[in-house]
Amino acid sequence: MTASPLRLALAGTAAVALTLTPALAGAAPGRPGEPRFQEGADGAGDPYFPLAGNGGIDVLHYDLDLTYQLPDPAPAPLEGQLDGVATIELRATQDLHRFNLDLRGLTASEVVVDGKSMRFDQVENELRVSPRPKLKTGDEVTVEITYGGTTTRPTDIEGALYGWVTTRDGAMVVSEPDGSATWFPVSDHPTDKATYAYEITVPEGSVAVANGLLEGSETNDGWTTWTWDAPDPMAAYLATATVGDFELDSYVAANGTQIIDAVDPGLPASASASLALTSDMLVFFEDAFGPYPFNSYGAIVDDDSVGYALETQTRSFFSRRAAEGTVAHELAHQWMGNHVSPGRWADIWLNEGWASYSSWMWSEEQGRTTAQENFEDVMSTPADDGFWDVVVAEPGPLCLFCGAIYDRGAATLHALRVEIGDGAFFELAKTWVAEFGGGTATTADFTALAEGVSGQDLEGFFDVWLYTPEKPTTW
Ligand code: TRP
Ligand code: ZN
Repeated sequence: MTASPLRLALAGTAAVALTLTPALAGAAPGRPGEPRFQEGADGAGDPYFPLAGNGGIDVLHYDLDLTYQLPDPAPAPLEGQLDGVATIELRATQDLHRFNLDLRGLTASEVVVDGKSMRFDQVENELRVSPRPKLKTGDEVTVEITYGGTTTRPTDIEGALYGWVTTRDGAMVVSEPDGSATWFPVSDHPTDKATYAYEITVPEGSVAVANGLLEGSETNDGWTTWTWDAPDPMAAYLATATVGDFELDSYVAANGTQIIDAVDPGLPASASASLALTSDMLVFFEDAFGPYPFNSYGAIVDDDSVGYALETQTRSFFSRRAAEGTVAHELAHQWMGNHVSPGRWADIWLNEGWASYSSWMWSEEQGRTTAQENFEDVMSTPADDGFWDVVVAEPGPLCLFCGAIYDRGAATLHALRVEIGDGAFFELAKTWVAEFGGGTATTADFTALAEGVSGQDLEGFFDVWLYTPEKPTTW
């Protein structure tokens, strides 16, 4: 947020008044310990996505009551109608006379705070709420937002489909990195994790698949309401409420995790053959990273396509096919990316490097290509290839999903494993998850932990692998 000259002038006046008349300070607002109400910032402070998330609030819980349907016949280009009531529990982290949520392309019609209707407005992708009484630091309130609108097929800054993507039979909902604002009012940055619950009402015959456990479904007058509970803290980009023709398959995996898969029946059986390996993979990754961190798992395989897969929390999303390596990748993300999430989007290699490396580990476990062979394959890329031009730990917002983030990220982890040895490497992996699970962590947290666990000075190593836009030769 840019401070207006007026605001600066007022702040200056208050400071002067306090300095000159200490005896009267007791009556003045802004005295230490007294509320000094401000506007919450319009972003969480991430330089890559400055307006993603919000300042001054910490969302604790989202209760999303959604109704969704496609017009009949479906229009071209595809559009749907989404109507929602988002009941959001949040805590003020600042004294606030106003706070923001992110909301893109949808219109709020009413905002109620603790049972009373409040003033609000929408400016571009920001919904601004003026709570009365104003909020003091630590206050917890319930904000109920009634909203809705026409859904389209939104795209991210790279032009990839994301967010609430309208499809022929419903919607594919995958929101990395900042697409959740296309379907609910949200503090859309991984640093503001929250718990979620969903009641999604769709025309009878359609299935709504969200995160967590299915509590039940109820059909009345041609509409079915699907209720899901996702009590594990979750970054907004990992929330989903995908709607379509799905067959649900539930079972308990070998490690005890409840699995719920949702597969579009229009797909050939081969589309989900690799999903059958999920149970074995859970056992394998628990051994490497520690206990599976969430209340359930499963896959959504949709016959529509955004062209990529996403590790939507507890319910990974696949576009048409679910290749074995991708199934392993998205499952490993549940620990690496979802339980431990990036503190800034610049830290994305910690998600993609670990998930890609996990897929290498699984391949080796299955007696196929070893991690060392995959590493050598990456290192066979010529030094003058543009692949090496990326600064892995600072790729820029347009390179979050560049090949180097995945492959050089994974190669970095393999080189680290060779450098510090298997014992320290897997202790690092487990400590990383145990220490930062449920929250976020940065590259600096990772390099510090790697040094702590291994007892080695790794500054030169990480400098070469993460901060130098050249092919590593010595480290
Ligand atoms: N995080 C996804 C994965 O690796 C990838 C992803 C998200 C992506 N958004 C994207 C890839 C956009 C390409 C384009 O599992
Ligand atoms: Zn990934």
